[in-house]
Order: sequence, then C-alpha cells, then structure tokens
Amino acid sequence: MTERTTVVHDASEIVVGSGTDAPLETYEDAALAVVDGRVAAVGPTDELTDEYPPENATHAIDAGGRSVIPGFVDSHTHGLFAGDRSDEFAAKLGGENYQDILAEGGGILRTVRAVREASDEQLLSNLLTHLDTMLAHGTTTVEIKSGYGLDTETELRMLDVIQQADEQHPVDVVPTFMGAHAVPEDEDTDAYVDEVVDDQLPAVADQGIAEFCDVFCEEDVFSVAQSRRVLEAGMEYGLTPKVHAEEFVRLGGAQLAAEVDAASADHLLHANDDDRTALAEAGVTPVLLPGTAFSLGADYADARAFLDEGGSVAVATDFNPNCHSQSMGFAIALACVGMEMTPAEALVAGTHGGARALNRANEAGTLWEGMPADVAIVDAPSHIHVPYNFGVNTIETVLKDGEPVDGGQR
Ligand code: NIG
Ligand code: FE
Repeated sequence: MTERTTVVHDASEIVVGSGTDAPLETYEDAALAVVDGRVAAVGPTDELTDEYPPENATHAIDAGGRSVIPGFVDSHTHGLFAGDRSDEFAAKLGGENYQDILAEGGGILRTVRAVREASDEQLLSNLLTHLDTMLAHGTTTVEIKSGYGLDTETELRMLDVIQQADEQHPVDVVPTFMGAHAVPEDEDTDAYVDEVVDDQLPAVADQGIAEFCDVFCEEDVFSVAQSRRVLEAGMEYGLTPKVHAEEFVRLGGAQLAAEVDAASADHLLHANDDDRTALAEAGVTPVLLPGTAFSLGADYADARAFLDEGGSVAVATDFNPNCHSQSMGFAIALACVGMEMTPAEALVAGTHGGARALNRANEAGTLWEGMPADVAIVDAPSHIHVPYNFGVNTIETVLKDGEPVDGGQR
C-alpha cells in the first residue's frame, strides 16, 4: 500500500506543543511532514522539503508565513442538546441567577424536556452542526457529555447519538455519561441517585459507549456523598471519574476528585489552595472554563494559582445552552485577559492540557513525532493572534490525521 503523505511548508512557526524547557516548543520558518496520518518530522522548511518533497506528497500545503499549531482539544462540553435558552441569557443579564432558574424548572431541566422530545435524527443533526462549527474554529478532539436525559432511555439515546457523530464526523468525539447532571423535576435526590446507580449505570456499561462518568457536585444539586456514590459505582463499571467542582460554592468536589483519582476536576471558580494542592498531588487535571464565568458574569478561576502548583491545566469551552460558544479561540482569549494566562500557557491548556483531561496525552494535543497530525493553521504569523484577535475565527485551515478537512473561517 502506498503511503499517504502531507507536507505543510513555509510556516512562520510550527508550535509542536507543550515543551520541556519552555511552555511552548516552537520551530521557526518550519515545515511539517505527515506520513499515514501521523507526524513524521518537523524542521526547517529547506531541510525538511529535501527529505519530503512537496511535489511528491499526497497533499502539499503552503502555509504562506502563517503559524501552525496543534488542533484544539476541547475537554468539557455539553454539546448535544435541543431547544433554545437564549431568553435565559437575557434574563440573567436582567438580574436573574442560574441556580434560581434551575430551581424553577428552567436551565438544565428545560433542556432535558427539549431533548426528551427530540428525535434521534434531530439530536444527531444538531450535534453534527455544532461539530462543524468547532472544526471550523480549529477543534479536532472534543468531549461531549450526556446528562440532558436524566432517565435511562434518554441517557442511552444521547450516548448513542454521540457515538454516531464520532463515526460520521472528522472531529474525534469523547463520550462522557452524566446522568447525575441535575435532579429531575419532582424527584427526591437520594432516590434519583439510586436510579443513576442501579438503573442508568448498568445500562450505560452494557451499552459500552461512555468512557467517563461526570457528576455536578454542587449545593442544591448532588452532595459530596451522593457524588461519591455515583463516581464509585461508575468506576466499578470501568468509567473514569470527572467532577463539576466548586462552580457556585466550595462544596468539596475538588477533594473528592483527588480522592477518586478523577481525570479532571472542572470549573473550580471557588477552589482554594488546599483544593489546588490536593488536585496537583493526585495528578487530577484542573479544567478551567472561562466562558462560563464570562457568561454568568462571575469571577474567573484563579488560573495563576493552579499554574503555580506546577501540574497541567486545561482550558475548555463548556459549550452548552448556558455558555453558548463553540470557540476554543474565544476561551483562550478569556484565559489570557480574564485569568492572566500567557498566550503560550493558554494554548498549551487548550491543546495538551485538554488531552490530559481526557486521558489522551499520547493521542492528541501536540505535534510531537508519532502523534496524529491534527493541525490548525492560524491566519496570522504567530499563535499569539489566537487570543489577540479575539471574537474572530483566526483558523484558516484544519488537518485531521494529516488530511485537509472542511474547517476554518466559517
Ligand atoms: O458545566 N454546571 C453544570 N452544567 C453545565 C451547564 C449546563 C446547562 O446549563 O445546560 C456547566 O456549566
Ligand atoms: Fe459542565
């Protein structure tokens, strides 16, 4: 079988990803060679094109002085949903708050009603449309959670649609089960936790799609003890834990994430130093979601304090009906301006950090030799333009496994 090769040449810089000495390992005036979907070499354009002549490549891409970066890894989304909650955005700007809206049957519970009523075809079409937008904005791997079903049938349906989207779309989709996303209307929380543990989890395990199990550990949603029950039951079925922790109040979700060796603890707006240390010591990746704080008008997570712990940090979109942005570029801009991360730190957090939060550090998030060639070409000479040119899609071209895909500038 002949090899499929892609050569991207004449880039102003190629950002290989997280470096050992510097936050970013970058090559200037560089080219990238891909063989059978994986990065074969990165080096100066002159030298690399001698070894891999563009004229012999299956795809030759003249980067024309642009910056080449790893595709984004968006490690926290609720990207499969139906309905429209734009009116809640306006209501929140008018002074209503997220938790009161939820307590009144809006918010997540409103999306649950819309998802239960939607057909599989409608759900799949919604998700594929969002994946198109994500891809156009440079995302090549995305985590999608269930959690708008809150009953066995609809949770399984959501996971099935997530799997279908993964099969049909170039973006790699990572499935997370989140039956414990909210308590269904008129149900007792302990009784619902029983349902998640005794009915939903065995069925989800039997279905065999979900890889992670997530829980909304929050005041008036699931307590630490209830969250622990769900995560430990999930672990018995081989699902890796994740936790929505310390979003509105400091309840103890971060400590729980450390105790159960979660892949990530997410949100963390109210985490303190003890929480940060516990997460770092346990090797749990903090996933920071500045778009959520932005859309809620809340204070951002203390990214600098998390970075000071020395471990990996992820930045993700949290795309959902409450935080309606598919753009990793926008999340990275907020990470810089709102959370005082450098563009290099934010880029690593949106690529390698995201991959770590999804237990995929060896499969996504860098352009190290041997990695899948998931690449975004920025329509500017430096990766700094991703946050610098905020509010605009800076991604011009996207490659998935070395193949140009219909991405960029939508
Ligand atoms: O991560 N906080 C809980 N879950 C989502 C919001 C989901 C929704 O409002 O539909 C989050 O922000
Ligand atoms: Fe979330």
